[in-house]
Amino acid sequence: MTFSHSMKAAALAAGLLPLVCSQNVVSLVGPDWTLSNDALNVSVSAHLPSHAHLDLYANQVIGDPYYGLNDFNLRWVAWSNWTYTSAPISGLDSNASSTWLLFNGLDTFATISFCGQEIASTDNQFRQWWFDVSSALASCTEAAPVLSIDFGSAPKIADAIAAEPGQETWPTGVQQVFEFPNRWFIRKEQSDFGWDWGPAFAPAGPWKPAYVVQLAQSEVYVRNSIVDIYREGQLNNIPPDQTAPWVVNASLDYFGAAPNDFTLSYTLKDLENNTVTSGSMSNVNCTNATVTGSTIVDPSMVDLWWPNQLGPQTLYYMTIDLVSASNTTMASVTKRLGFRTIVLNEFPISQAQLAQGIAPGNNWHFEVNGHEFYAKGSNFIPPDAFWPRVTEAKMDQLFNSVVDGNQNMLRVWASGAYSPDFLYDLADEKGILLWSEFEFGDALYPVNPSFLENVREEAEYNVRRVNHHPSLALWAGGNELENLELILVNRSAPEGLPRYTAEYETLFLHTLLPVVFGNSRSISYTPSSTSNGWQSLNFSNPIPIVERYYNLTPGSVYGETDFYNYDPSVLYNDSAFPTGRFSNEFGYHSMPSIQSWRAQISETDLHFNSTTVVLRDHHNPQGGLSDSNTTNPDIGQAQMTEAVELWYPIPNKTDSQANFSAWCHATQIFQADLYVSEIEFYRRGSGLPNRQLGSLYWQLEDIWVAPTWAGIEYDGRWKVLHYAAKDIYEHVIIAPYWNITTGNLSVWVTSDLWEPASGTATFTWYDWSGNELDVGLNTSSSVDFTVGAINSTKVLQTFATGMAAGTNAILKMDVTATGSLPNDNTNTTHTFRHENWFHPTALRDAQLVDPGLQLSYSNSTKNFTVSATTGVAAWVYLDYDQPGTVLNFDSNAFWLAPNQTREVGYTVKTDASDGAWVDTVTVQSLWNQTLST
Ligand SMILES: *[C@@H]1O[C@H](CO)[C@@H](O)[C@H](O)[C@H]1NC(C)=O
Ligand SMILES: *[C@@H]1O[C@H](CO)[C@@H](O)[C@H](O)[C@H]1NC(C)=O
Ligand SMILES: *[C@@H]1O[C@H](CO)[C@@H](O)[C@H](O)[C@H]1NC(C)=O
Ligand SMILES: *[C@@H]1O[C@H](CO)[C@@H](O)[C@H](O)[C@H]1NC(C)=O
Ligand SMILES: *[C@@H]1O[C@H](CO)[C@@H](O)[C@H](O)[C@H]1NC(C)=O
Ligand SMILES: *[C@@H]1O[C@H](CO)[C@@H](O)[C@H](O)[C@H]1NC(C)=O
Repeated sequence: MTFSHSMKAAALAAGLLPLVCSQNVVSLVGPDWTLSNDALNVSVSAHLPSHAHLDLYANQVIGDPYYGLNDFNLRWVAWSNWTYTSAPISGLDSNASSTWLLFNGLDTFATISFCGQEIASTDNQFRQWWFDVSSALASCTEAAPVLSIDFGSAPKIADAIAAEPGQETWPTGVQQVFEFPNRWFIRKEQSDFGWDWGPAFAPAGPWKPAYVVQLAQSEVYVRNSIVDIYREGQLNNIPPDQTAPWVVNASLDYFGAAPNDFTLSYTLKDLENNTVTSGSMSNVNCTNATVTGSTIVDPSMVDLWWPNQLGPQTLYYMTIDLVSASNTTMASVTKRLGFRTIVLNEFPISQAQLAQGIAPGNNWHFEVNGHEFYAKGSNFIPPDAFWPRVTEAKMDQLFNSVVDGNQNMLRVWASGAYSPDFLYDLADEKGILLWSEFEFGDALYPVNPSFLENVREEAEYNVRRVNHHPSLALWAGGNELENLELILVNRSAPEGLPRYTAEYETLFLHTLLPVVFGNSRSISYTPSSTSNGWQSLNFSNPIPIVERYYNLTPGSVYGETDFYNYDPSVLYNDSAFPTGRFSNEFGYHSMPSIQSWRAQISETDLHFNSTTVVLRDHHNPQGGLSDSNTTNPDIGQAQMTEAVELWYPIPNKTDSQANFSAWCHATQIFQADLYVSEIEFYRRGSGLPNRQLGSLYWQLEDIWVAPTWAGIEYDGRWKVLHYAAKDIYEHVIIAPYWNITTGNLSVWVTSDLWEPASGTATFTWYDWSGNELDVGLNTSSSVDFTVGAINSTKVLQTFATGMAAGTNAILKMDVTATGSLPNDNTNTTHTFRHENWFHPTALRDAQLVDPGLQLSYSNSTKNFTVSATTGVAAWVYLDYDQPGTVLNFDSNAFWLAPNQTREVGYTVKTDASDGAWVDTVTVQSLWNQTLST
């Protein structure tokens, strides 16, 4: 067996295009590998890139890791060592001047041997590794040498590091432990050791592509590169002058020997390959590992890149060539990039802002190309426990759902893995801003010099690798550090706070910040999500940021919020929600659909509290963080149950699977209901003194099938949440705000458009049978309004006292507004419509009637038509049941008034049924939940 060694293919996979004549790049990607463990007597065919679990599964040594309770049953795989051995590598050139091994990622503790000689050991999943194996090859007696990689057990090694004499310790309760302990000692995806939404496989293997690279004399191989595009004079975290020219700073990291005399030339092309500008770079510097240079681009030559819904996603190709004195191209790198500025503005509220009614304190919002905007989105977690099987096609589908869901930003959560380039590429194309984070979360970390150096290398590689992507919005140090970890220290061992704060700063200010600021002028940095932001920012200091922590002035508003409350009475209770400048996490878990459960558990386990379902719910005391003061191992299941019981008709179907399905669906309705009320609350804040400018809920998608906070299930199916979020993330929304105690009912229109919008809000009270009611509130049935840019306006104010339990009245609110879309050069006036419903009575106590739902499908328009004929229908839901097919309806989980009809289109994401799924579509509303069948 031989490896295919198409140089071009290898180079493309690395995102680079080295055009050098005699350079020999042998790709190690492919199926010609063996996975073995002698002690276990296992030896099976394997792939690179891969994880041991995947190859064992492919060879049926183990079952599907995601099936049933295999999360627990397969712990032995994580506790074992695994060896990947290549087939003999042919195609190597014995005349090469140097030979290198290049690994774009090894997960995690690997010892590498080449032709029987030990080359090196690695200890960081997130670093790129390259080794000069020229002498090993020279002394190799085999014509085609073999590469072998021994992977140690990460959980064992983490435990061994923890047990070292003098090892760092932390106060009780600070380090959040999920399934395997001691994750903070090792540089591996932290959620591989378990999290409250996922399994713990702690996989091992060569998880990224690898190559053998052979060079001639005076040749180089570019292993990584950075392009930084910023406005002249720009500094990180400071809004730049939007009229300044663009500076393009490029830097190539290479191995091999660069020629003494060379130039760096560049060509900027649009996506049709028309050259925009080209020339030679200035300020060229060269060390024995990096070449840098820069140039200026006239802003009139390029169009700006904008996020989804805020303008076009204009992209360009930039090629940078390293050219020798004899005019040979030594290396060439092409990156697709965009021109934009994105800044996290944490500056103090200005006099001008105070004059607009904004509360004192600090800003905490993003500005793209100098423009404030409302960030609408969610949190992205690792889409699979095994990254090597995450395909571009699956991520394309997921990101299409992000765009279809009216989202413009994802926070790429801090304890997974740094995103692959293809993920940023997709985000660049679709206009999804990726708030990116270093991989640290819900723990404090060691600060010994070797740990810090390992982290610094990891950060350097990843910051440089992804900086050119216009979708890159931010670097944050880690997840829930200032607002959680340091608070836990203070709670558990207050005398230790100065020490652990200093250690926190050693890692997140003194180690990571210089990597971001030293490589990039274009990207802002914050040491922690969530935080109260900086207290001062001064670039004449070696570390420009001083954090505010809890130095707060009453009446002032700072920073971002992170909010979880598992008491289901929090629903509709605005006074429970936090008032900040931005919300980066909030949520409540729900069950996935029965269709998804069927893919990963047995028919007999399809019960709400079956052992398998309960053990896959990791939101429990063993699940670390969540509800640490409870001992109920089923707390997660109990909370979802309580939420349904408190607010909705309780499912009680005779058929046990139908009942399970109804319960799963009911938990999703509660989840969606809660998120909608929180998003409405945050969005209205754009027009209140807290000037709230972002809502990112927890969490976008699932890593497997389990009770979690996700809005999109593992296969791509939307939960009720994703539909509801799509609706409440429309540009112009109308929403009710009711204080049950005072009876104060107000209705607001909120807009995230960049120009004022004008329109009419109408109000109609109904009973459940659909009769219009006069509820005696003396409110007019329609109101004209103008809502400002990224602002809110109150369109109704009344006191609906005495409307508590038992009231049969429900309010339909409609808004129609005209305005223009951001950066719409066609100057088209658009009409924006939104409707919403308010019910003073919990739906549990509502006098629901059969709404007489009717559903039809038109083959010619490809639309479903849904109507209510005999009453008001709450939470109307279209569903489909076709294994292998994933689609989403254009709208869902809406309400219908009697005689209201809605046409519903759909987007098919994957269809294995040749359209037969259409016949499986059903419709139901909350009314069906109480029916026994
Ligand atoms: C597993 O690998 C580690 C190194 O990563 C090594 O120290 C240990 O001896 C190995 N165990 C076995 C059983 O081979
Ligand atoms: C631009 O050039 C690249 C590389 O030669 C080629 O793959 C691509 O198809 C071209 N694009 C267009 C629009 O011609
Ligand atoms: C790079 O070279 C230019 C002169 O070509 C010099 O002014 C600049 O200071 C150098 N930068 C570094 C980082 O060495
Ligand atoms: C040159 O490269 C070697 C190996 O990568 C490194 O150890 C050394 O520090 C480098 N020297 C300079 C001046 O950068
Ligand atoms: C270098 O080569 C390029 C084409 O590869 C050519 O266009 C250019 O004129 C050459 N320059 C010199 C100085 O020979
Ligand atoms: C599931 O179990 C929990 C914990 O025992 C319990 O509180 C809850 O009522 C059960 N839920 C259902 C739907 O049976």
